[in-house]
Amino acid sequence: MDWGLKNRLARIIKPETGHTVMLAVDHGYFLGPTSGLEIPGKTIKPLLPYADSLMLTRGVLRTSVDPNNDIPIVLRVSGGNSIVGDDLSNESITTNIEEAIRLNVCAMTLSIYVGSKYEHQTLINLSELVNEGEKYGIPVLAVTAVGKEMGRGAKYLALACRIAAELGAHFVKTYYCEGFEKVVKTCPVPIIIAGGKKIPEHDALKLAFNAIQKGACGVDMGRNIFQSNHPVAMIQAVRSIVHKKASVDKAFELFNSKIKMQSVS
Ligand code: 5RP
Repeated sequence: MDWGLKNRLARIIKPETGHTVMLAVDHGYFLGPTSGLEIPGKTIKPLLPYADSLMLTRGVLRTSVDPNNDIPIVLRVSGGNSIVGDDLSNESITTNIEEAIRLNVCAMTLSIYVGSKYEHQTLINLSELVNEGEKYGIPVLAVTAVGKEMGRGAKYLALACRIAAELGAHFVKTYYCEGFEKVVKTCPVPIIIAGGKKIPEHDALKLAFNAIQKGACGVDMGRNIFQSNHPVAMIQAVRSIVHKKASVDKAFELFNSKIKMQSVS
């Protein structure tokens, strides 16, 4: 791995802890104005001091993030599908490497749909993106997307993560599952988990805790942070688990204490 690529990765996965808290706000690329992200800039701004990187599309980056900010950017470069289209897996590369370089990104990301109708196309997207990224020292994060018909069990996720790593992804984003250790053990690159649909805060903290305990390198959480009634308190609680080894109860205490502090200030 060359120096630039390692350096970019180190800006996302913090060398001090070996972990990362990424904030995912790219949902609009196929979901449109997702609840909590209707005005992306308003959602993102108060969370930035607590995120190690921001995962988003070029459209939201250009319009909704101040370029004077030094937050590492993980740029979503795939799309061309929508929640109302006929097949979510029909995804292509939407943003070229020159644009990623102009935007000074730390990593590029795309989804792969293993087991879907467009599996081949999305795996070739990944391989070609890795080829481009490696020319310029930009790492690639592969997201193992799960459509309605696809599994979420350890066997399926281990298959998808391993394929992503074999094709050259430098890190992989997937879902937490029963038997998650197996997914981590059989994937030779770092694994980050998505948060998934909004669940109660204590449950989301437990999810983050379990994932880290079982070998995840971090979280790339979206809805469980920005759809919380207290997103700033929530991201700080998640950070305490990922970077400070807090227990679920300690992190939840921190969440509640931050809410109290915010209500008096
Ligand atoms: C969609 C994505 C999203 O960024 C990610 O899954 C969203 O995070 P969360 O599930 O925590 O809302 O990659 O393919």
